[in-house]
Amino acid sequence: MSTTSHNQPVAAETVNVRDLVDVQRGEISREIFINEQIHRQELENLFPRAWLFVGHESQVPNPGDFFSSWMGSDPVLLTRDDQGEIHVLLNSCRHRGMRVCRYDEGNTMKFTCPYHAWSYSIDGSLVAVPGDLHGVPHLKAAYSGRLEKEKWGLVRCPKVRSYKGLVFANWDAEAPEFDDYVGDFHWWLDNLADAFDGTEGGTEVFRGVHKWRIKSNWKFVSENFLGDTYHGASTHASVEAVGIGPGGKGKRRHGEQQNQGGFSKGRMKTSFRLGHGASDNLDYEIPYPTFAEDELTEYFRQAWDTRKQKLDREERPLGGRGPATLFPNMSFAAGFPRTILVAHPVSPTETEVWRWYLVDKSAPDFVRAWLRRYYMRYAGPAGMTEQDDMENWDYATESSRGVVARRFPYNYQQGLGEEQPSELDRAVHSNHAIAGEVNARAFYRRWAEVVDGLSWPELNKLAEIDERASGQRVGEADA
Ligand code: FES
Ligand SMILES: [Fe+2]
Repeated sequence: MSTTSHNQPVAAETVNVRDLVDVQRGEISREIFINEQIHRQELENLFPRAWLFVGHESQVPNPGDFFSSWMGSDPVLLTRDDQGEIHVLLNSCRHRGMRVCRYDEGNTMKFTCPYHAWSYSIDGSLVAVPGDLHGVPHLKAAYSGRLEKEKWGLVRCPKVRSYKGLVFANWDAEAPEFDDYVGDFHWWLDNLADAFDGTEGGTEVFRGVHKWRIKSNWKFVSENFLGDTYHGASTHASVEAVGIGPGGKGKRRHGEQQNQGGFSKGRMKTSFRLGHGASDNLDYEIPYPTFAEDELTEYFRQAWDTRKQKLDREERPLGGRGPATLFPNMSFAAGFPRTILVAHPVSPTETEVWRWYLVDKSAPDFVRAWLRRYYMRYAGPAGMTEQDDMENWDYATESSRGVVARRFPYNYQQGLGEEQPSELDRAVHSNHAIAGEVNARAFYRRWAEVVDGLSWPELNKLAEIDERASGQRVGEADA
C-alpha cells in the first residue's frame, strides 16, 4: 500500500465497542464501520495481536527473495535467508524510519536504506561492515565506532508460522500459538493449501497479486466471506445469468451443479469462538465442475479420486471449500476459484484488497492456463463477480455515514436462537439453515472483545466460559 491515513495517536476518549455489538439481539451499530476512533482502536488492539496472513512461501522460493506486505498499519517484508529460513521484518529503517525496500518483490543481498544508506541483510541484521556503503556509512567517524549494530537490526516479528506454505505472523509474543488460534478451522486451511489430489501443501501462488482499493470498511469483506450466502442470489444475479462457471456456462462455481445461488438447502455454517467462520455447500455430489474440454474434466476427476483414496474420507464434514475467513482479515475460497483475499485497513471507510490465486504445484500447463483465465474472469477488480460485491459495500458505506443513518443499527437476526452446537474443536456453532448470520455474530463478538483491549487472560476466560455453556470441551485455545 502506498499511503495510509492511520498514523495518528489513539485519542484519550476510547469507545467501548462491546456496547455497540449486541449479538443477543442481533443488532450492531453502524459506528463500527465508519468511526475514526474505533478504527484507531482496531489498529492498536486487534491487528498487532492477531495472526495475519503475510504471503506464501512460493513467493520467496530462493535465498535472498523478498515480498513486501502489510500487517495492519505496518509495512513488512517477507524474506528467505541463506539458510532457507523465513523472516517477517518491519519495513522501516531503525535510523529515521525510511522504508528500506520499496519494491513489491524481488531478490537482493541486502536492503540499503535510501535516506542515509544503513544496510540490512536479508534476515534484517544491520550489516556489520563499518564505514562504507555496505554497512553503516562513516561508522567510525559518525559514531566513534560505538554503534551497537546487533541492537539496531530491522524489527523482527516474534511469531511467524508457515502452515503448508501459507505464512502467518503475529507481533504479540504473548498471543496464542497459531495452531491453538486456528483449532479445527485448519480443515478449511488444509483444503486451501493442499493440492486437489490431497498432496499436503501441494499448492503455489500464481506470481503477481491483485491489489485495489474500495471505499468501505475492511470488515464488510471479512463478514461477506465467512458466511454471507444470503447475498449470492441477488447480488450476483447478473453474473449467474451470464454464465461464467468453470465450464464456460452455467453458474459461477460449479456450472450446472449449483442450484438456487445462496439458497441451496445444503448450506452449513460453522463459527469458531475465536472469530473464524466458514460456509459450505453440502449439495455437490462431486466437488469439481464439468468442463467443455474433456481433458480438464478428466484432470479434476482424477485428482478428486486420488484425494479420496489418500485421505480415506469424504471432504465432509471436516471443513469444506469455503468461502471462509480466518479472523480477522484473511478470507479465502478453496474450490473454484481457489484464492486468498486479505482486507487491509486503510481508514474506517477505505480498504486495500489483495488477492492471491493458488494452483497445484503439479498442475500441467493446460490446467494452469485455464485456471489463470478463469480466475481473471471471476475475481479481482476486473473480474465479474468481485465488482458486484464491491459496489454494494461502497454504497452501503456511503449511505450509512450520514448523521441520521448512523443512529440506526444493522440487523443481524437471521437464525438467531437456532444455533446448534458443533462437534469441531473450538467451533461453537454450526447451523444447517438455508441462510443465517450465526458466523457474523460470532465474528463481531470476538472482534469487540479484542478491540476493547481485553488482556489474553480475560479473553481466554471468556472463550472458556462460552465453550462450557455450549457443552463443548473447554478449550485450551489461548492457554
Ligand atoms: S533513515 Fe535509514 S539510514 Fe537514515
Ligand atoms: Fe459475493
